Amino acid sequence: MNKLGGNGPGREEDPLAGLSLGRVIITEDEIARRIAELGEAITRDYTGRPPLLVGVLKGAFVFMADLARAIQLPVEMDFMAVSSYGTATKTSGIVRIVKDLDVDLVDRHVLIVEDIVDSGLTLSYLRKGLSAQNPASLEICALLVKTDQQRVDLKIPYVGFEIAPDFVVGYGLDVAEVYRNLRDIRIMDGATS
Ligand code: IMP
Ligand code: MG
Repeated sequence: MNKLGGNGPGREEDPLAGLSLGRVIITEDEIARRIAELGEAITRDYTGRPPLLVGVLKGAFVFMADLARAIQLPVEMDFMAVSSYGTATKTSGIVRIVKDLDVDLVDRHVLIVEDIVDSGLTLSYLRKGLSAQNPASLEICALLVKTDQQRVDLKIPYVGFEIAPDFVVGYGLDVAEVYRNLRDIRIMDGATS
């Protein structure tokens, strides 16, 4: 059965089978408070050199919208869309760029805005590609970082929350493309992270 309750072609297997929405680990209020702090830190650090925020779609779209409005500088925004090969809950580290940036990064202060860092392979791949375009600076702001899961050394100056290595959804994060619109961040029970 598919997500709409039908049995459409190619959708015989339910990607949500065995999964259920678990407890809230970060509330809407906690997210808002932490983003206000991140916005203040970024405003302070980038005064006189407003950053170009590069959001990584789809997961970062909600975070990007709130973070951008917490920064008191004339930021510019662009988006990349990537899709990583792998299972529903685990990335392989092989990333395909589905939508590239529209703007030129030469001499720009680029701040990558990402929803969550697990192995770090996705960001590591993206950072390599962006730094080859000669930005003046290149940093990362990630809403969530899973503790001790990184297989690469990323040095992320702006981190919203460090979380346990559970699979989580909400506030932009999905499982099989659903639950991005939840206001809180919740554990997905039954998912192996
Ligand atoms: P990484 O390459 O292992 O760091 O995985 C990063 C990407 O995998 C993120 O951009 C997310 O799209 C996805 N991802 C990793 N962990 C989770 C999770 O707990 N919930 C939802 N998506 C996740
Ligand atoms: Mg995702």
